[in-house]
Amino acid sequence: MTLDQHAAAAFPQARPEVESLHAYSAPLEGRRPMLRLDFNENTIGPSPQVVEALRAIPADQIAIYPEYDGLREAVVANLRLPLQPDQVGLFNGVDAAIHAIFHAYGDRGETLLTTSPTFGYYSPCAQMQGMAIEAIPYEGDGFAFPLAAIREALLHPRSGQPPRLLLICNPNNPTGTRLAPEPILELAAAAPQTLVVVDELYEAFTGDSVLPLADFAATPNLLVLRSLAKTAGLAGLRIGFAIGHAAVVDRISRVTGPYDINSFAVTAAFAALRDQAYVDDYVAEVLRARAWMAEQLSAAGVRHHVEGGNYLLLWPKGDPAAVDAALRQAGILVRAMHGKPLIDGSLRVSIGTREQMERFWSAYRTVEGC
Ligand SMILES: Cc1ncc(COP(=O)(O)O)c(C=O)c1O
Repeated sequence: MTLDQHAAAAFPQARPEVESLHAYSAPLEGRRPMLRLDFNENTIGPSPQVVEALRAIPADQIAIYPEYDGLREAVVANLRLPLQPDQVGLFNGVDAAIHAIFHAYGDRGETLLTTSPTFGYYSPCAQMQGMAIEAIPYEGDGFAFPLAAIREALLHPRSGQPPRLLLICNPNNPTGTRLAPEPILELAAAAPQTLVVVDELYEAFTGDSVLPLADFAATPNLLVLRSLAKTAGLAGLRIGFAIGHAAVVDRISRVTGPYDINSFAVTAAFAALRDQAYVDDYVAEVLRARAWMAEQLSAAGVRHHVEGGNYLLLWPKGDPAAVDAALRQAGILVRAMHGKPLIDGSLRVSIGTREQMERFWSAYRTVEGC
């Protein structure tokens, strides 16, 4: 046996797709004491009603498996749309919904059509299924949605095979690019063999949802993702929803474990869905802080891009890695977009409250001398 063969034999090899996978990696430690503007989270925490509900969980509830009755109904009531509860799938965060979609629908040799740059978890999910990825770049300095190119790749694919999945992040993370609901619905209607997934994680900051216009009976290949992570402040509890045709929701739910969402997340979700006013107030505060931040950046002549979402991109004059490190030194985390197509050299800065953005801006001006 050669050394290499020994190394290979030392542990069971995974599927070839997994062996070659570059997993989505995010810095997961040491963030707690900092001002966290790196993951687009809610920066102040959930509604006090959520905290109260969690504190009131009796000990015996921890000992039993979670129960989900009424939660789909609560999601439908919160959306105020004529949906049936079985059109709502419950997942351990939208990340788990994305994983399940690929698991259920993405097969070896099939294609994921998406945009670039976009949320970093779509690609590894496609790769682990052995799928090809066609990622179409955003257009121009304003990172406009490449609608004509997406339509072409969807309806006239070079391989002759329609893409299995089209993933549209709206607004897009990290460019903030917005797309009106109508063209998305048109794409879905024109491509019935493709599952068109609209990741609406940051929709609360734009209001551009396809849900109010969607007719899932006529367009069963449309699926919408929503989460309580970024607005309601439940990121740490992990709960997200996939909304669409009941049969599609059922297929995606089949590939998850029976108790993937824990009891704490269920309790918190009920309370968060009941207190929509808290979320609305938080979103309004973030939008005000975002407008203020954009004004400061413009006045100081800092190149930036702000569109949808609770985040913006800015391009430091100095070395972005050094600026990132100096901000961290000052107790503030942002996300360097190093190596990302079109936005290499930028920093993505999540938006929190006005007060938090004032703190960020003061540190940034010190670091950059602007
Ligand atoms: C576009 C997008 N989709 C999905 C997710 C994951 O959301 P969740 O926390 O619900 O798993 C994120 C998180 O950053 C995101 O930015």
